[in-house]
Amino acid sequence: MQSQHAAPVNDTALQKVFVWEAFDATDLMTQAAAKLYEHTLTADERIPWMWIEQSVQDRTKSKPRSGEWSRHLLLAAPEGRQDDPDALAGYVYGALLPGYGGYLCYIGVANWARRMGVGGRLYEQFFKVLRVDAGELGEPLPFVIWESHRPDPLAEAGDWENWTARTRLFDRVGGQWVDGVDFLSPNFAADEEDDAAPPVPLQLFVKPLDTPEAAFTPERLREVVGGLHERVYHNLPGTPMYDRTLPASCEPRLRPARAAGVRKSERGELV
Ligand SMILES: CC(C)(COP(=O)(O)OP(=O)(O)OC[C@H]1O[C@@H](n2cnc3c(N)ncnc32)[C@H](O)[C@@H]1OP(=O)(O)O)[C@@H](O)C(=O)NCCC(=O)NCCS
Repeated sequence: MQSQHAAPVNDTALQKVFVWEAFDATDLMTQAAAKLYEHTLTADERIPWMWIEQSVQDRTKSKPRSGEWSRHLLLAAPEGRQDDPDALAGYVYGALLPGYGGYLCYIGVANWARRMGVGGRLYEQFFKVLRVDAGELGEPLPFVIWESHRPDPLAEAGDWENWTARTRLFDRVGGQWVDGVDFLSPNFAADEEDDAAPPVPLQLFVKPLDTPEAAFTPERLREVVGGLHERVYHNLPGTPMYDRTLPASCEPRLRPARAAGVRKSERGELV
C-alpha cells in the first residue's frame, strides 16, 4: 500500500514534476490516487472514489460535448517515476461545466511532496486542460471555482495549518475568496437516510480567467454561487440550502484568498 509518508525520492527528484491525465481506473497510479484522496480529505468533504473512477473510464469514450460535464483526473509524479505508485506526488480532479465555468472538485498532495510547488503545478495544468475543453466547444472559460471547508475555530492546530496551506496555495494560483458567502452543501459522510444531518458550510474561491476580475460584481457573484448550487447540487431557488446560502442580504465580493486564511476565535475575533 502506498504510504503518504513514503518519501521515496532523492533530493533532486522534485525539480521536475510531471503532470498527466489518468485514463485507466485500474492503473496502479490511479489506484494510488484513490488512497491519497482518502488520506488527505475528511469523509464529509469527499464523494465516493468510485464516481471519480467511473469518470476516468468514461473519458476514454468521448470528447467534450456541449451540455455535458467534461471531467478530468490529473496526476503528478517526479519525472521518470510516473509508473511508481510510491512516487505519486498528487492529484487534482474537476470538470468543465459547459455554459458555466470550470469546477475544481478535489486536490491533494502527498505529505512527502508538500511545499515543493506540486499543488501549484496541478492547478495550472488543470486550468490549461479546461481551456482546451472550452476551446473545443467554442466557449470562453470565464472562471474556475472551487470550494473548501474552513475548520471550526476550535479545531486542532493541524487542521488550521492545512487551512493556511490551502489558502496560500489558492492565493499563489490567483484564486480569489468569495467573501460574504457560506455555501451550504450536503454532508456526504451522513447516512443517506439521515435528513437531519447538518449541511457543511464551505468557502468558495474563484479564479477569473476570460472574465476580468472587476466584472465579478456582487450581482454576478450571486449568479455564480447560485449556478454552483443548481448545476452541481441540483438545488434550485426556493430549496433550503440554496436560500440559506444566498439570503437577500448577501452581497458577495472577491477578496484575496489569503484573507480567508485568518483564524477566528470562538467569539469571532481575528487572531
Ligand atoms: C493544500 C495542499 C494541496 C498544498 O499543496 P502543496 O503542493 O504543498 O502546495 P505548494 O507547494 O504548491 O505551495 C503553494 C503555496 O502554499 C504554501 N504552503 C504550502 N503548505 C504550507 C503550509 N503547511 N503552511 C504554510 N504555507 C504553506 C507554499 O509556501 C506556497 O506559498 P508561496 O508560493 O507563497 O510560498 C496540500 O497541503 C494538501 O494536499 N493538503 C491536504 C489536502 C487538502 O487540503 N486539499 C485541498 C482541498 S480544497
